[in-house]
Amino acid sequence: MGYVPPESPMPRGSSQGFGWHRMGAGFRPAPRRYGEPRTPGEGGLMVKRSYHTDEIVVHWDSELCIHTAICLNALPNVFDVQASPWITVEADSAEEIARAIERCPTGALTYERTDGAPGEQTQAETTVIPWPNGPLMVRGNVEIRDATGELFTAGPRFTLCRCGASQNQPFCDLSHRRIQFHNNPRVVSADRETAQSPQDIDPRIGP
Ligand code: SF4
Ligand code: FES
Repeated sequence: MGYVPPESPMPRGSSQGFGWHRMGAGFRPAPRRYGEPRTPGEGGLMVKRSYHTDEIVVHWDSELCIHTAICLNALPNVFDVQASPWITVEADSAEEIARAIERCPTGALTYERTDGAPGEQTQAETTVIPWPNGPLMVRGNVEIRDATGELFTAGPRFTLCRCGASQNQPFCDLSHRRIQFHNNPRVVSADRETAQSPQDIDPRIGP
């Protein structure tokens, strides 16, 4: 049986969160190299679902969603993982839905206004906020490029893995929970405080 794309962050009947735990080994896609084309279905997870009214089109990208439940708490009448479909776009105004979507930290939720109203205004400054024992939340006019400089994707919101265990690099896929990742407190070592040159920090060259 091939990969079955999810219908919501936590499909009906699931008792666990979206991601590693819910999918289990049998459903995990083959690891995709960073920069590899995002192919729907086989191997690549990218599944975008869209929900329309005359005023707004809401997109949900299951590859980026890590089930923070921020959307569910913001507008429970619109975002409900017990319902099918899980987004009822008619249940509130386009303005309220847009406001809730802009709170989604991963960029899994995006929207287009089809009534002429302005779309999401990208945050002027770029901010990176470490989630305690979890990913980096990045906002701004963000472009993600591979090591050759080729554009991989761009958007106003992303949640990037900092534990190293995600199989959806560079995005968080909740694997930090599986490995019980704990970020170290920030401490500037004595070596760095007394360093006179990069050589004093590490004699090796390169990352
Ligand atoms: S706010 Fe975004 S990441 Fe969180 S559950 Fe909703 S769609 Fe998924
Ligand atoms: S920080 Fe979430 S998978 Fe690495």
